[in-house]
Amino acid sequence: MSFSPPAPVTEDGFRRRVSYLRVSLTDRCTLRCRYCMPGSGMPFFHTDDLLSTAELKRIIVIFRGLGVVKIRLTGGEPLLRRDVDEILFHIYTLGVADVSMTTNGLLLAERGEALKNAGLRRVNVSLDTFRPDRFQSITGAKALDKVLNGIEWALAAGLSPVKINMVVMRGWNEDEIPEFVRFAEERPVEVRFLELMPTRNTYEGTASVGQEAFVSVEEIRREVERHAVLGDEEPIQGVARSYPIRGGRGKIGFVSPVSNHFCGTCNRVRLTSTGRVKTCLHGESSADLKTALRAGASDGDLAQLVRDALFQKPEEHFIRPTHFVSPHLQMSQVGG
Ligand code: 5AD
Ligand code: SF4
Repeated sequence: MSFSPPAPVTEDGFRRRVSYLRVSLTDRCTLRCRYCMPGSGMPFFHTDDLLSTAELKRIIVIFRGLGVVKIRLTGGEPLLRRDVDEILFHIYTLGVADVSMTTNGLLLAERGEALKNAGLRRVNVSLDTFRPDRFQSITGAKALDKVLNGIEWALAAGLSPVKINMVVMRGWNEDEIPEFVRFAEERPVEVRFLELMPTRNTYEGTASVGQEAFVSVEEIRREVERHAVLGDEEPIQGVARSYPIRGGRGKIGFVSPVSNHFCGTCNRVRLTSTGRVKTCLHGESSADLKTALRAGASDGDLAQLVRDALFQKPEEHFIRPTHFVSPHLQMSQVGG
């Protein structure tokens, strides 16, 4: 009789099991979504500051050894990194069953086949509007067709699930909720309505959507239910509350980081593209793996740095509809 070793488990200081790693591959992006990056641009990390392919692979093995069973690649825009296929394949060969990516979709139709061959099975695409002019004013680019092509490619290629992230913003796109509901009725996608989160406002005057644009999930849901009948809530996975649409092909999800945060069951840890560990989206980064690694740290040393960081993971964040401030968050540097 053979015994397999117990799966590794790492808990944070509040006994939450940490099993989900989000890896930001780059802070660069082809778009400039208003809630994410200032339209005037922001300084990007220098290439030497980003983790190399080999460094990334090594750090991912360390997280795997600590009990991570789910990994999502994010950005900026992850497809701007040329080694994304190699990283995906590396994750796949480590036996991580759940590998996903959040992308703006622009390069999906072009690069998707290689991603699929490397092990990608599912994808989240950010899309806030179906109107070309609005797309341009929200993201700064005339590229709606490319994103829609990317989504159609993902569906035709059989990626599943395909999720669409829509950040609902008053005065910008909240009137398109019915169109997004219809999109999910007609296609096997999950449209997820996200509450707008505050980002760090170091670029005052250029960060152009703030508290005035916040719409709560409660309000979003009321609007959705005027246009569709939702079935029973699905068993909760991650941060969205998801529901099938009665008589439709797809699903609707709601993500409420501000009005009803999910810190109590948070299983996440983030790695920035510069090799920092972030244990809370809205907190400061807590360990600098890259510097340690480049100074010759062993795998054991790096694992201990991660454990120490996780032990300090905050119990919750304090962002609320009435306290709409996140001093630490620059979304494109953390990947949402
Ligand atoms: N509030 C809510 N969602 C955001 N995203 C980026 N910035 C914000 C914000 N300020 C979303 C993107 C993407 C995901 C990674 O996070 O639309 O889908
Ligand atoms: Fe790019 Fe995503 Fe930020 Fe938009 S939200 S600018 S697509 S990283």
